[in-house]
Amino acid sequence: MSGGEFIYSREVIDYVREQNEIVSVISQYMPLKKKGGSHFGLCPFHHESTPSFAVNEGQQFFYCFGCGAAGNVISFVMKVENISFVEALKLLAERINYTLPEYNDANFAERKKLQDSLIKIHTAAAKFYYDTLLSVGKKANDYLDKRKISSGARKKFGLGFSPGGNALYKHLLSVGFYDEDISKSGLVIETRHGIADRFFGRLMFPIFNNTGKVVAFGGRILDENIKAAKYLNSPDTAIFDKSRNMYSLNYAKKEKTETVIICEGYMDVIAMYQAGVRNVAASLGTAFNSKHAAQIAGSFKTVILLFDADDAGEKATFRAIEALRHNRLEIKVLRLDGAKDPDEYIQKFGAENFRSVVNKAVPFAEFQLRHTSEKYDMSVADGKIKFAREAAVFLSRLEGAEREVYGREAAIIADIDESTIHSEIQKQEQKLELSQDALLLAEKRPDIGENKAVSDAQRGLLRLFAQNSLYDDIILKNISKEEFADDVYIKMFEIIIIEKSKGNASGETVNANVVLDSFADNISRQKAAQVFALPPFLEDEKKAV
Ligand code: UTP
Ligand code: MN
Repeated sequence: MSGGEFIYSREVIDYVREQNEIVSVISQYMPLKKKGGSHFGLCPFHHESTPSFAVNEGQQFFYCFGCGAAGNVISFVMKVENISFVEALKLLAERINYTLPEYNDANFAERKKLQDSLIKIHTAAAKFYYDTLLSVGKKANDYLDKRKISSGARKKFGLGFSPGGNALYKHLLSVGFYDEDISKSGLVIETRHGIADRFFGRLMFPIFNNTGKVVAFGGRILDENIKAAKYLNSPDTAIFDKSRNMYSLNYAKKEKTETVIICEGYMDVIAMYQAGVRNVAASLGTAFNSKHAAQIAGSFKTVILLFDADDAGEKATFRAIEALRHNRLEIKVLRLDGAKDPDEYIQKFGAENFRSVVNKAVPFAEFQLRHTSEKYDMSVADGKIKFAREAAVFLSRLEGAEREVYGREAAIIADIDESTIHSEIQKQEQKLELSQDALLLAEKRPDIGENKAVSDAQRGLLRLFAQNSLYDDIILKNISKEEFADDVYIKMFEIIIIEKSKGNASGETVNANVVLDSFADNISRQKAAQVFALPPFLEDEKKAV
C-alpha cells in the first residue's frame, strides 16, 4: 500500500474519525472563534499574528490560508503531535474511550503475543526483585532506610533488589518462560560466559505503563564508589519506549488533578509521593519531548516543570517548554532554592515547606524573562538593549493578554519604556513573517508555470469527480488513471471509483475524509487534502477571514 501501512479496517478508521468532532479536538490545542460556517484561529503550523487557519465543521476539514496546511482531524493530530497515522488514531481512540480492535494481520498477532509474554516476564521479574529485597537485600534495605523511604512507599512502587549473576534468568526459566521471549525482554544480556542478568546488585524501580503493568526497570547502584552508571534503565523493547513512557504517570493520572508535576528522577517522585504530593511523574533518563507532552495533554490542564536546580536542569526546562508549546497546556516552572532536587528539598526542609513551595510555581513566560534578565547587566544601556531584543524573541510568540502583561514586566525589569519592548517585538514579528514567506515561496517553486497549471487541473478534475456525479460518464470514458501525474492522484482516482461503485456516494459526493484516510503519510495526506481544500469550496471562509 502506498504511503505507509494500515493495520486497522476502514470501518474502524471511520468510526474513530467520526466520533472525534474536529472543532472540539482542535479546540483542545488552541482557541478557535466561530465566524460564519467555520472556526478560525492562529495556525499552529506556521507563525502568524492574524488568524488564517480555518476549521470547517460541515466538512470536518481544516485549511490554512497562510501556509496551505490542510486535512481532517487525524491529519491535525498527526501534525500537531508529530506522530504517525496509527499513533494519531490510537490517541483519538483513547480520547473517546474506544478500544481499538486487536490487529488481525499475522505479524501483528505475533507482536501482540510477544508483548503479552514480555509483560508476564516483567511481572515475574518485579516479583522476584521485590522478594529478593525482602529476603536477602540487607544492603538495599539499609540504603532505603537511609533515604527515608517508608515501607508503604516501597510496596506502592514495588521496589526491589537485583542479586545479579544469572539469578533472574534462572528464575524466569524455572517458572516456565522461553529463552526466545526472555532474550527480547531487555532483562538479560549475552556475555562470553553465557546469558547473564542485565541488572546486578542494584536497587530496582519497576516502571509501569498507563494500565499499571510493569514494562521496564530502572536500577540504582547502592555504592557511589562503584565505577558504573548511577542508574541503568531497561532498553526499548516491544513494550517499552523511553521517549513515551514516564515514571509514575499511571499513579499521577489516578489523582485526577488538573495539574501534573514533572521532575527528573525516580527518587524525586517517591519523595514527593511520601510528602503527599502525588500528581507527579518523571521522564526516564531522557529529555522530556513532545511524545511525553502528548501523554499528559489528554489528562491534565497544567504542567509544572520541576527539574534539578543546576544548569542541566535549567536546559532541560527550556527543552521541555519547547516540547509542550504545541499542546494547550498551561506551563509553569518551579525552581528550588537551597536544594538540588525535590528529594533533597524535602529531606532538608520537610514535607510541609515543600507543599507550600509547589504553589509558587511561576508561568513559564515569567521564568523565561527572569532567566534572560540574569544574563545581562541591567545597569548599563547595552545590557538593557540586549535584554529587550532577546525578550522580544519569545514575547513575540505569546498571544494577546499574555504578551501585554509580560511586555510590561520586561519593561519594568529593564527599566525602559514599554513602547521600546513592543517595537522590538514588532521587528521580531516582521523577521519571522519574512522567513515564513521565503519558506512558502520555496515550497511553491516546483509548482510554478506549466506544472502548476497541470496539477491545478488534475486537482480540479479529481474534486469534480468526487463531489459530483453529473460528469461520471464523461470522466470515466475519457480519462484513465495513468494520466495523472502523481501517485497520490492516481490512487485518489481509484478510490473515488471504488467508493462510487460501492454506492457509497449515490448521487452525493464521495466523503473526502474517507479518501484522505486511505493515505498514512503526511506528504500524501497533505496532497490529497489540497484537492478538497481548493476554491471555490473555501471561498466563503476566505471572505470571512
Ligand atoms: P539524578 O542523578 O538527578 O538522580 O538523575 P536522582 O533521581 O536525584 O537520584 P539520587 O537522588 O541520586 O538517587 C535523574 C534521573 O536521570 C536518570 C534517572 O532516571 C534518574 O532518576 N539517570 C541518571 C539515568 O538514567 N542514568 C544515570 O546514570 C543517571
Ligand atoms: Mn536526588
